[in-house]
Amino acid sequence: MCGIAAYIGKKKCRKYVLEGLQRLEYRGYDSAGFVCIDSQHKHLSFSKAKGRLSVLKDQLNGSPHDGFIGMGHTRWATHGVANEVNAHPHFDCKKSIAVIHNGIIERYDEIRKKLKAAGHEFYSDTDTETIAHLFESLLAEHHDLKQAIKALVSQLEGAYSLVFLMEDYPEQLIVVRHRSPVVVGIGEGEMFVASDPLVFSDITQKVLFLPDDSFALVKEDSISLYDFSNNPLKIESREVDARYIHTGKSGFEHYMLKEIYEQKLAIDKTIRFYNSLNGEGLEDSFWDQLGLTLGQVKNLKTINLVCAGTSWHAARIAQFFFETIAKIQTKVYLASEFRYMPFFPDENSVYIMVSQSGETADTLEALRLVKSKSNIPTIALTNTPSSTMVRESDGFLLMQAGPEIAVASTKAFSCQLASLYYLACKLAVEKGLMSEEQMRISQEDLLVATEILETTIETYKDEIIKHLAPRYSSFDRFIFLGRHISYPFALESALKLKEVSYIFAQCYPSGELKHGPIALIDNKTPVILFSVLDDVIYDKVVANAQEVKARLGHLVVFAFDGQEELINLADYAFIIPKVKPLLVPLAMIGLMQFFVYQIAKELGLPIDKPRNLAKSVTVE
Ligand code: AGP
Repeated sequence: MCGIAAYIGKKKCRKYVLEGLQRLEYRGYDSAGFVCIDSQHKHLSFSKAKGRLSVLKDQLNGSPHDGFIGMGHTRWATHGVANEVNAHPHFDCKKSIAVIHNGIIERYDEIRKKLKAAGHEFYSDTDTETIAHLFESLLAEHHDLKQAIKALVSQLEGAYSLVFLMEDYPEQLIVVRHRSPVVVGIGEGEMFVASDPLVFSDITQKVLFLPDDSFALVKEDSISLYDFSNNPLKIESREVDARYIHTGKSGFEHYMLKEIYEQKLAIDKTIRFYNSLNGEGLEDSFWDQLGLTLGQVKNLKTINLVCAGTSWHAARIAQFFFETIAKIQTKVYLASEFRYMPFFPDENSVYIMVSQSGETADTLEALRLVKSKSNIPTIALTNTPSSTMVRESDGFLLMQAGPEIAVASTKAFSCQLASLYYLACKLAVEKGLMSEEQMRISQEDLLVATEILETTIETYKDEIIKHLAPRYSSFDRFIFLGRHISYPFALESALKLKEVSYIFAQCYPSGELKHGPIALIDNKTPVILFSVLDDVIYDKVVANAQEVKARLGHLVVFAFDGQEELINLADYAFIIPKVKPLLVPLAMIGLMQFFVYQIAKELGLPIDKPRNLAKSVTVE
């Protein structure tokens, strides 16, 4: 996902823009650029670089060019390879208009061809450069900035947030939003424009979230906001909460490791926050925040979970929570598939969009589809209060995990599990299936599991660092196995390994092994098998482990105290204290993530920003 950082004010902009881009690195990128109106010669001055931000910084170190208005961009290549030419900003023919862009312009080729025929020269392969030339031609046609913007947005399709910097308007940034989020930080005599409040939240927490289909003329001490018909809009700023204060790595080598260790606290804070919503004397604001009436809750017959990636794994685990604890049929959809499937608006149902960022394009578009085709209540379960999903859903459940910077999700995943477990118990209470006392006990069980999440890391930390990570980082492929509630957990574990170590990892339900995948078993492909705490299913897991060993497979198990049969079969066994059966994934999370993290560290990889990946996939 690309990153935008811009500044206008009384200070020199380059420092703020580059630091802002640094804070957006977690979103993933492969090139970067900076442009300002040089305070000396009053012209646009820019620098672009392929690769990491440090390359751009090195280029700029020797340059005198700086000014009081400027912007920067980190690009995650979609149209056109990652190189200097395709990096943003892009320009018009006269290099007097600069534009940076998040999102994708659909069918931009048609526009580009017309512009080329009219004499415009293009240098890059990007959709963004088309915007610069189109805007140039519309300005020449309309001779009015707002009319030109109106004409521009009427011709652009797709999702975009744009920032223009123009020599003819040196006192303002022009910010345009259609679907792809962009915010304005409102300071004292200075303004910031960014993709995420994280960029400036230690300077100002006063934020304007540009409404969809709007544009803003941002000056150092004023903002004018309009809709796409040029009607003025009221500026409604909000305070972003302190969670956005950038806290850095707090001494950890990587954000991923910091966030692995933050999980227990993140879950505690999240559950405490949810409990605070039903405080004594408060009307039950928990359901209010979800946008559900008690009647809807009591009559709920189906829960639909729609999500992507790690969030989809959390939802697959949560399906066991909702169906076992609340006795509510639950369907789990991949957002990228959901949108192209037949839609059956079932009565007495709810759609929960599970998304750490609240900006994932597939999940957002799925939300919009549900809202366009039904009146079924929609809920956003997210870690990002200022996200588009929160604004567009009927209700929301806000995790309190704090910003998750590492691309590979850890604390958000465990908070999603804890949140959905909590929600399942709350639903059970409202349906008369669980007493308030049992609800309290369920929270105790949850805290025990999160305690184990943390203590198991300490138990095995030295063994993993000294022996296991060096050994297992030498393999070039893994098979992950799980059964019942541990199968989606195995899927998440395989994804974690792939994301941060680039090692191939295939995951199967362990009951499926004999239906083909067993052909893959050999002593060069470690099998990581996750156990369960259900006696009947445990026996099947043991049988699956025996299948692996009978073919001389190399077996690593995540087992629980007392599961000697499974432990004795393994070449290496992580032994975890017992928890309630449904909390098995939470008990294993910390150890799994730490193991995978150390393997990646052995390989010397950029763990927080893996190649090709973005923290939030805001393009389809
Ligand atoms: C998780 O490690 C990945 N970064 C990715 O699969 C992520 O979970 C997915 O893109 C969904 O993101 P979201 O939760 O912000 O919607």
